[in-house]
Amino acid sequence: MTTLTTQVAIIGGGPSGLLLSQLLNKAGIDTVILERATRDHVLSRIRAGILEWGTVELLREAGVDARMDKEGIPHDGCYLTDEELMVHIDFKGLTGKQVMVYGQTEVTTDLYNAQAAMGTTVLHEVSDVEIHDLDQAKSYVDFTHEGTRKRLECLYVAGCDGFHGVSRKTIPEEKRKEFERVYPFGWLGILSETPPVNDELIYSNSRHGFALASMRNENLVRYYVQVPLTDKVEDWSDQRFWDEFSRRIPSEAASRLVTGPSIEKSIAPLRSFVSEPLRWGNLFLVGDSAHIVPPTGAKGLNLAASDVYYLYTALIDAVKGKTSGIDEYSTRALARIWKAMRFSWQMTTMLHRFDGEDAFAEQMRKATLNHLATSETARRDLAENYIGLPF
Ligand code: APR
Ligand code: PHB
Repeated sequence: MTTLTTQVAIIGGGPSGLLLSQLLNKAGIDTVILERATRDHVLSRIRAGILEWGTVELLREAGVDARMDKEGIPHDGCYLTDEELMVHIDFKGLTGKQVMVYGQTEVTTDLYNAQAAMGTTVLHEVSDVEIHDLDQAKSYVDFTHEGTRKRLECLYVAGCDGFHGVSRKTIPEEKRKEFERVYPFGWLGILSETPPVNDELIYSNSRHGFALASMRNENLVRYYVQVPLTDKVEDWSDQRFWDEFSRRIPSEAASRLVTGPSIEKSIAPLRSFVSEPLRWGNLFLVGDSAHIVPPTGAKGLNLAASDVYYLYTALIDAVKGKTSGIDEYSTRALARIWKAMRFSWQMTTMLHRFDGEDAFAEQMRKATLNHLATSETARRDLAENYIGLPF
C-alpha cells in the first residue's frame, strides 16, 4: 500500500479545509487535503456571500485578500422589512464595523489558487475515506485515489468534510450529542446578471412569504424566495420567480427591479444542527461537518472561519508540545457556534411565515420588527451579531 505522511490530514477541500490548510502551511505545518469531488464540482456550489469582518481579517492572515479587496464590496448596513415597516440596520454607525459582500465561490477559488501557489497537496476524487487510531499517538487515514488504496499517516485529523462527510460519524454514536431543528420550508435562490435592486441587502417578510435581495457585484444578483419543501427547481420558471420575488419585496424596490435570465437556480432546505463534542482523540470537526445554520443570518461560512481560527492556532501550539489549545478547542468553538445558532434561528423565526402557524406567531414577528424600528439598543444587538461576534 502506498503510504504518505503529513502532520495534519484534512478531510474535505471546501472552504473550511482549504482555509485551515492555507493557515497551517503558512505557519510551516504540513497538511494533505483529501477531497471527494473535483475542484470544478466544489466551485460550482453557490453558497452565501457575506463575510464578517473577522472572516475578512482571517483571509488576510491567510494571504488571500488581493482579489477580495479589489472585487468585494464592503456594506455598511442592511434592511429588514414587512409590509408596514422598513428598518435600516446601520452596522457601521452602531458597531463601527462593516461586512464584505464576496461570494463563497470566490473565496474558495482564491484559496485553491493560493494552495497551488504554495505547492500544498490537495488530492481530488478520493473515495472510501476511513479514519483510524484516533486514540493513539499517531493516526492514519485510508482512502482510494486513482484506483489504488492509499494510507495517510498523521498526527492530527481535521474533519472538514461537511454535513454528509465521514468525520463526524467516526465519533461513536453514543459519544455524540446532536441537536437539530428542521424548518418546514426551503429557499429557492437564483443568480442573474442584472444590477442589484438596492445598494444594501433587503430581508423581506411579506404576506406571500420571505424574500431576500442580495448581490455579488454591480451586475450580478443573488435573490431568494421562501418555498415549500415539496417544490422542485423545475416548478420555477424564471418568469414565475420574478413575479413572486417582486411581490414579496417592498413595492418601491419592486418598481426598480431589473429582471433577466437566471444563470443558476437551486433550492436549499433550512436546518439548524449541532453535533457535540468537536474533538474525538486526534480528530477535530470544523465547519459544516459539525454544525449547520439556516442562511438567514449568513453565518455558515463565517462560523467555519471561526472554527478554523481556533483550531489552527491550537494546532500550531500542539505540534510544539503545548496542548491546552486543542484541549479547549471544542469548548471555545462551541460557545461561539451556539451564539450564531441562536442568532440565525431568531432571524429565521422573525422573517418567515410557518405553515399552519397561529395568529400569535404573526404578532410576535410584527412586534419584533416594531421593536427594532423604535429601539437603537435592539438594532445594535442585531448589528453586533450580524457583523460577527469576536473570535
Ligand atoms: N471524503 C472526502 N471529502 C468529502 C467527503 C468524504 N467522505 N464528504 C464530503 N467531502 C467534501 C465535500 O465534497 C466538500 O467539498 O468535503 C467538503 C465540505 O465542504 P462544505 O460542505 O462546503 O463544508 P465547509 O468547508 O465546512 O464549508 C462551510 O459554510 O456557507 C456555509 O454551508 C456553507 O459550505 C459552506 C460552509
Ligand atoms: C447571499 O448573498 O447568498 C446571502 C446573503 C445573506 C444571507 C444569505 C445569503 O443571509
